[in-house]
Amino acid sequence: MYSNTFWSFFQVALLCLSLLSLVTARPPDESTAPTKPSTIQLRSEVVKTTLPPARAAAAAPATPPPPPSGFAGCYKDGKSIPEGSARIYTTGPNLVTVNEICLNDVTKHLQPALAEAWPDDYTYSVFMPALYKGNDTAYRCRGFKDFYGSAVIGRVAAAKWKGVTAYGGKYATQAAASNEARTFACAEAEGDHFGCVTHLAATPSETALAQCKALMFDAVPYLKAVSGAAGKTVVGGDFNLKYDKGSSTNVQLCVPNGYTRKGDGDVQHIIAMNSLVFQDTDHGGMMYTDHPWFSADFTVR
Ligand SMILES: *[C@@H]1O[C@H](CO)[C@@H](O)[C@H](O)[C@H]1NC(C)=O
Repeated sequence: MYSNTFWSFFQVALLCLSLLSLVTARPPDESTAPTKPSTIQLRSEVVKTTLPPARAAAAAPATPPPPPSGFAGCYKDGKSIPEGSARIYTTGPNLVTVNEICLNDVTKHLQPALAEAWPDDYTYSVFMPALYKGNDTAYRCRGFKDFYGSAVIGRVAAAKWKGVTAYGGKYATQAAASNEARTFACAEAEGDHFGCVTHLAATPSETALAQCKALMFDAVPYLKAVSGAAGKTVVGGDFNLKYDKGSSTNVQLCVPNGYTRKGDGDVQHIIAMNSLVFQDTDHGGMMYTDHPWFSADFTVR
């Protein structure tokens, strides 16, 4: 699908609103860890799911994942999920980030689609729900049956698989007018890559920028230090910030030295540490969701 020197990344917002090993990650050991930033709070709601190589798993069906059902009442009747799954399968990226997604749709549809694209490799997903500001509990999808949030979904070559450590957190700064506390999820695929996803405040932009700085300048370096991550590092998501040179809330203001950002011309961005070299980006329409899909190809320096 892609040669080993190529690395591809895929971001999509799937406005919609479930095997595997479900593991709740624990926050890092405080005693030995570097100083935890005050701009973020690590949370235990994060959910990690790993899948062994589909070809090797005796019980794995040779057919694509089952079509979703029961999405009535979801955004566009849930059609964004098969549409997103198909796009993930045909693109075959190494890493995918999704926003505004239900946990079950990640583990039952999107992650299996990536696993189908890479049948010899391991896949993982790390999901972090948004939180209700009023009572600090996990945000629910419509119907209250499932959790609502963002996920990073990745692939690791079987020979390189050493497991994944999952982190999730919320930002100390939140928009006053919203009931939805914004969060992030990060995955340290040991020895391979470190990837994060976030969905930042819709408004005001100043809040989104403060959250972006908390993620890029505080959370990412802290979690990389805590997990011992080295090498490929990518963050993607709906930042609710645009690239606008003249603006005091230009998304570029939260891109650290040594990182490069590419955007979809709107609010979705992919920010990669410079050991990954951007080659090109691509995007395209999605019928059933409110943002295009957006992808980037890299070479590994
Ligand atoms: C938390 O607040 C939300 C939104 O007001 C509400 O729907 C939900 O039931 C509350 N959850 C708990 C556990 O109180």
